Formats: sequence, structure tokens, C-alpha cells
Amino acid sequence: MSKSSRQPSHRLDSIVTTHPLEWLQAIIASINDGILVIDSAGIVRMVNPEYTKITGVRPDEIIGRPLLDVRPGAQLVSVLQDGHSRSGVFRSEGGVEYVVDMAPIVIDGKVVGAVSISKAMTEVHALYQQLKKHKEKVDILEKTIGSMAKARYTFEDIIGKEGGLRTTVTMARKAAETDLPVLITGESGTGKELFAQAIHNKSTRANGPFVPVNCSAIPNELLESELFGYEEGAFTAAKRGGKVGLFELADHGTIFLDEIGDLSYHLQAKLLRVLQEKTVRRVGGTQERTVNLRIIAATNKNLDQLIRKSRFREDLYYRLSVVNLHIPPLRERKEDLLPLIYFFLGNSTVESGKPCYSISEEAINVLQSYDWPGNVRELKNAIEYATCMANDWTITVEDLPGTVPRTPKMTKKPSSTLKAKIRELELETIRATIEKYGNSTEAKKRAAQELGISLATLYNKMNNSPKS
Ligand SMILES: Nc1ncnc2c1ncn2[C@@H]1O[C@H](COP(=O)(O)OP(=O)(O)OP(=O)(O)O)[C@@H](O)[C@H]1O
Ligand SMILES: [Mg+2]
Repeated sequence: MSKSSRQPSHRLDSIVTTHPLEWLQAIIASINDGILVIDSAGIVRMVNPEYTKITGVRPDEIIGRPLLDVRPGAQLVSVLQDGHSRSGVFRSEGGVEYVVDMAPIVIDGKVVGAVSISKAMTEVHALYQQLKKHKEKVDILEKTIGSMAKARYTFEDIIGKEGGLRTTVTMARKAAETDLPVLITGESGTGKELFAQAIHNKSTRANGPFVPVNCSAIPNELLESELFGYEEGAFTAAKRGGKVGLFELADHGTIFLDEIGDLSYHLQAKLLRVLQEKTVRRVGGTQERTVNLRIIAATNKNLDQLIRKSRFREDLYYRLSVVNLHIPPLRERKEDLLPLIYFFLGNSTVESGKPCYSISEEAINVLQSYDWPGNVRELKNAIEYATCMANDWTITVEDLPGTVPRTPKMTKKPSSTLKAKIRELELETIRATIEKYGNSTEAKKRAAQELGISLATLYNKMNNSPKS
């Protein structure tokens, strides 16, 4: 044995040599758990006051006597025989419940006795109750975070056609397969958050959290502690125990920094550090905590302009925009308009419980002539409004919200091709037959029967009517 490893026992020896047994007894008596010691013959040699308190057995009733005589069935004797420790043995006596740990006492490789340590259940129980309460709290928090931190949308929810959003969707799908930071730019309502969620859900982080943060909705002085968390006592209003920041919550997932153009210059510098070091330090703390996250940022502001005005850090811009997804406004991708209208009509069909919607050619013309400053969000709201207003299964110009201007284009253009003419005749016949029977599903079934087509074909033809 080395000199240094012997030193502590030397010191203990020098204390203990005065009255070794008194020292040992005093130590055992001061322990807050019940202690009972037997020798190799199973005779009780020592108990402490806590043991008496827990079991009600006084020293004079047990010391010097075989343990099994006083406590029939005591397991401690079997520890002598097999030399194995036991832990968490439950016992109940005279209405008192306690748990016991047992261990052999070994000197020079020989079992010379055994010791049991009892802990009253009241104490264990209190600790258990405390633990249970904390666990419940953690469960609630985990559930809240879980529901808060879920991304709903996938690429299947994004409508984008050739000549429209298709190229952007393809690029976003590729970005989802990497772990690179993505910057999504586009006017309000173009679908920036939709893309962010879809990228997260297609990435390897899909099972991790998706934490959206709207940088413009939280005042900058609060945003720092929201993002980075804080230690207890970091400032006057700081909560006891401190607070976990959103960066830490997004660990192993994605943090979506929406409206990044509104982030203060001070926080931009701190965000840059997170991107470079992959660590965060809570406000008022000294410890650097490693975080494994992907950052997707979005803005409807022109970051180039902000950089020129020295309101956005150029270095941060390059870090964030490794992949830059620009979503064009709806007015610049008319190819997507019709598919989006039918997509939202389909959703409304499910939500409203009405059997199915069609839309008049005039209404389509009106929708197509509008430039949609609120982009897809405005279109979605307009369709939802119209389905509520519609008296029957066809949405007409009258059902559209007043914010959408009625245009002179509303007059019906005569169809020129033979195909279009046949289509028009087909539709007129369907409409006339339905009018004859009424607007219920039953009526439509009868109309379909009369026309010699299935109900599904009838709905199909009605739905596709404006495409001609
Ligand atoms: N291509 C699309 N296909 C289907 N739905 C879309 C599409 N683009 C946008 N939407 C829908 O339009 C609405 C607005 O989208 P989102 O909230 O993602 O826009 P945003 O760009 O984040 O807007 P803002 O800048 O105002 O926050 C959402 O309901 C979204 O599901
Ligand atoms: Mg958004």
C-alpha cells in the first residue's frame, strides 16, 4: 500500500486509540438509521437507539441473545451463511413499516458477523411522496413541451406545381436530408413556417422537438432569458431553481427562429456564438452547456437592406443562410392558385361536414384576378369564408369575401375548343339534373343514376368543372 493511501487510516487510528469502543459506539448511536450487529454465532452484539425507536426492541431485551430467539425468521442470520448483502427488504412490525439493508462483516476474508441497517418507512415514504410529486411535475412539463414542440406539417401538405413552388419544394426536401442551417425568406403568409415544419419532419431530427420562437413577439430584454434560460438569482424576477432556455429545450431537435430580422444586435452576437460553439450559457450562469440543434430561421424582411443599414450582422447572415429558401409571393406563381383553391376546398369539405364543394368559373376568375397581398394565408381564409357562406355545393362570386375585388373578367368567355364545348355541355346537363332532384346526397345519387354514372364520377366531374 502506498504511503498516501495509508495516511487517512493512521489519522483515524490516532483519534480512535484513546477509547476505540466508545468512539465506535458513539458513532453508531449517532446514526439516523437503525443499526443491529450480530457476531458469527448469530448473537446480537450491538443495537443503536434508532433501532429501538423503529422496532420497539430495547437493548436489554436483545443484546447477548441469539437474534433468532428474539426475532424469529430474521434474515440477517442467512447473511452470515451465504456472505451476500441484501437491500430494500421490507418489514412491518407493530404497525411500523421499515426497509432493511443487510451486509456481512468481513475481516481477513472471513465472515465474522453481520449488520442490518433499518430505515423507517415514514422517512422513506416522505421521500417517496416528494419524489412522486416532482415526477408528476416533470411529466406535466414534458407533456406541455411535447405538445408545444411538435411540428404538424409535412411535405405532403405543401401544394406546389411546376412553374410554381415545385422547385422550392424540391430544394427544401434536399435541405431536409442535411443538418445545415436554413434561412427561409418570403412575404407574410407564403408558408415559411409550413416549410420549416416539413423540413424538420423529414430530417433525422423528426423525433426530436420542434421549438418555434417568434423573435418579434417577445420583447428583446425578455427574449434573451427565454432563449438562453437563466440561473436562480440571475435577476430580481428570476424564478427559484432558474429556467431552462428554448435552445436547451430544442436539444436534439430544431429551433425555428421566426422573424429573425427583428432580433436585436446584442442577441444576434449571442446567436452567432451558439452557431459557432454549439454551447449556451444561461443568464447569470458560468457553465457552458452543449446543445445539439438545427437552426431554421425565417423572415419577411429584406435582410440585405438591414445589413446595409448595419441592423443585421453580415457574419450571422452567412451562418444562417447556408441554404436559402425563397418562397415567392402567390401573385408570382399563378400556377399554384387553382391547385391551392381545390386543396382548401377539399379541407373545408372535411371540416364543414358538407358533402363536397364546387366553384363557379366566375368565382375562379375573380380569385385569379386578385393579387393576394396576404398570400396563401389570405386565400385559405377566403375559401373557408366562402364555404361557410355558400348556400349549396357551388361557391359563387357572391360567397367570396368583400376584400376580394369583383372584376370585369367575370363575364363568361365562350369556349372555343370542341373538348371545352363538350365539357360545358356535360356540366350543364349535370347541373340541370341535380336541380331537378335537389341538393341532398340522396338526390345526387338519383341524379347520377339518371345520368348513368356513379356518384363518385358525378362529384368528380363537378369538382373538376372549372379546369376547362
Ligand atoms: N404551398 C402551400 N400549400 C398548402 N398550404 C399552404 C401553402 N403555403 C402556405 N400554406 C398555408 O397558409 C397558411 C400560412 O402559412 P405560414 O404560417 O407557414 O406562413 P408564413 O410565411 O409563416 O407567414 P408569416 O410571415 O405571416 O408568419 C398556413 O395555414 C399554411 O398551412
Ligand atoms: Mg410564420
